[in-house]
Formats: sequence, structure tokens, C-alpha cells
Amino acid sequence: MSIGILYGGQSTEHEVSMRSAASVLEALDKTKYDVSLIHITKEGEWLLADHNEEIEALVDGENAVQLSILPSQQFNSQKGACRFDVMLPILHGTAGEDGVVQGVLEMMGIPYAGCNVRSSAVCMDKDMTKRLLKLEGIQVADWVVYRYDEKEDVDFDIAKEQLGLPMFVKPVNQGSSVGVSKVTDKASFDKAVALAFQFDTKVMAESAVNGREIEVSVLGNAELTASVPGEIVANTDFYSYESKYEDEDGAALEIPAKLPLQTSDAIRRTALDVYRALDCEGMARVDVFLTDQDAVIVNEVNTLPGFTSISMYPKLLEASGIAYPELLDQLISLARE
Ligand code: DAL
Ligand code: MG
Repeated sequence: MSIGILYGGQSTEHEVSMRSAASVLEALDKTKYDVSLIHITKEGEWLLADHNEEIEALVDGENAVQLSILPSQQFNSQKGACRFDVMLPILHGTAGEDGVVQGVLEMMGIPYAGCNVRSSAVCMDKDMTKRLLKLEGIQVADWVVYRYDEKEDVDFDIAKEQLGLPMFVKPVNQGSSVGVSKVTDKASFDKAVALAFQFDTKVMAESAVNGREIEVSVLGNAELTASVPGEIVANTDFYSYESKYEDEDGAALEIPAKLPLQTSDAIRRTALDVYRALDCEGMARVDVFLTDQDAVIVNEVNTLPGFTSISMYPKLLEASGIAYPELLDQLISLARE
């Protein structure tokens, strides 16, 4: 069976994707799969990597960023010119996790793992996600949205009155906490809004929820598996990009989260409700806050969650009895055109 791993991409999470793809490549059972790598450069070029050095460089991880300069041949995107039985889009963020690549693959007639175009697009947009979840009666933190053409009118006092302090300001369409700031006063608010607008034309301010950060992995199409919940124990002010990927002591994952069974079940049920409400397919990681009063408040949904062997998504499923290579087998068999 021929499998293509799509990785890299044009988003701010290019490097995160490299790490995810390296782990996926290493874990795929090569006796079952004939694996090809398709590197999407930061400039948006698709390169089919068919050289051993490139695969080794990717597995090595450290050299991964040099991939684009290794010998590669142009990927021919014409249907039939380069066939894959299943494509694994191991891409994060815009043009990878937001339905764009999924749409291209549909037009090329290539089955792919993970969410379809619509649910990918909705989940990438934190504002859309919250609106839909609210309609379903699923709890989300209060928020307001600012569009680029109204950016001169963004007012700290109004936001403070609506959302309280502290609050978070974030680009609506980003991942890995890129462009996210915690805001405590007018000066930090103005700075945060300006920063977030560097990444998106739609920015949001959101109430900070005082609660534990819990995540659940969901796997499946019609028949769903919700993993045991895991907890992020961040040692920094919040779970920032640095604490996720750069600072070794930035955050620890508690798997499974230490929770009473009833609470754990309630969180898993919420994760399944969210997955169904947003029409997810294949996989998604649902991130929630658990308050002191045991309220489950949904933070966001990641349709292409971090996928290194030590990332939360595979780790939670592993703790639930599905080892990483088996998880990949399942995602491949769940793939749809
Ligand atoms: N956006 C990153 C990859 C995550 O949610 O895991
Ligand atoms: Mg995310």
C-alpha cells in the first residue's frame, strides 16, 4: 500500500510539522507500507522526496529543516501522475489543518487521513468553533472578535467589561499558541492585539478560565474512541509556544490526568459531543478546561494535533490501549476520499 506523508507547510507551525512527520515516518510499518515523503516548503512548493538521505535526515529530526535543500524532484500534482493509496497530511495550521490541503487532495482523488474539508475549516477558526459549540449547548469561554478593518476601534475598557481580567488575546486562525498573549492591563492589551493582527485578519479576546487544562484524543469516523484524559501542567504563565516546544521544563503531561472516574467520564463525553457537533472524522484532540466547580469548558479542537511520539494525541491513545503504530494503521484505514 502506498502512503504519502505530507509535511512542512506554509504555516507558522512548519517546524512542529517536521517533528510530527519524523515520528510518523519512523513508526509506520515499512513491511506494510511503501512510504513517500512530500515536503511542502515554506514558500508553498511541493517536493517529492525520494532520496534515502532525505528520509534519514527527517528521521534524525535535527537535520530536518535542511530538507528543502536536499535533492528532490518536483511533485506532479496531476491526477494519475503520482498515485498514493492514502495521504497522511501531517501538517499543522493554515493551508494544512484548515481544509485547504484536504480540498486539494479531494480534487486529486486521493484518500487522506483525518478531518474532511468542512470540519477542518471550522475547527481552525476558533470563533466559528465556539459559535457552533455554543449553539449545541456546549460551554465555551466568553469571547469577542475583532476584524482587521475595525482594528482602530478595538477598546480595552469595553473588552474588560465584557470579559474581565485577565484575558487572552489570540489570532483566530493559528495553532501552537503562536501570537497568543495573556493580558492584564491596557498596555498589554494594546500590544497583544497588535501582535495577534500580525498573524491573522481576525483576532479574538477571550476570558481566561481558571481551571485545569485537560485534553482528550478522539479517533474514528462513525464508531468513536475517546482516550483517557491527559493534563497539561504548565510551569509558565500559560501554555505558550515556548513551553510547548522550546523550554524543556515548560510543561509536563500527566497521563492519565488524575481525576475521579465520574469527572473523567464527563470530560470524555464532552469530547465526543464536540467531535460529533463539528462533524470531525478520523481524528481530533479536544482541549478543555476543568473548573473547580467541575464545569467542562471547551477551549479548542485540533484536527491535526501534534504527532510526535511524545505528543499528547498519540500518548493518550497509547494509554488507552492503542500503540502509536497501530494508531497510524487505524488512521490509514479510516481515510476517505
Ligand atoms: N497545533 C499543535 C500542533 C497542537 O495542537 O498540537
Ligand atoms: Mg491548537
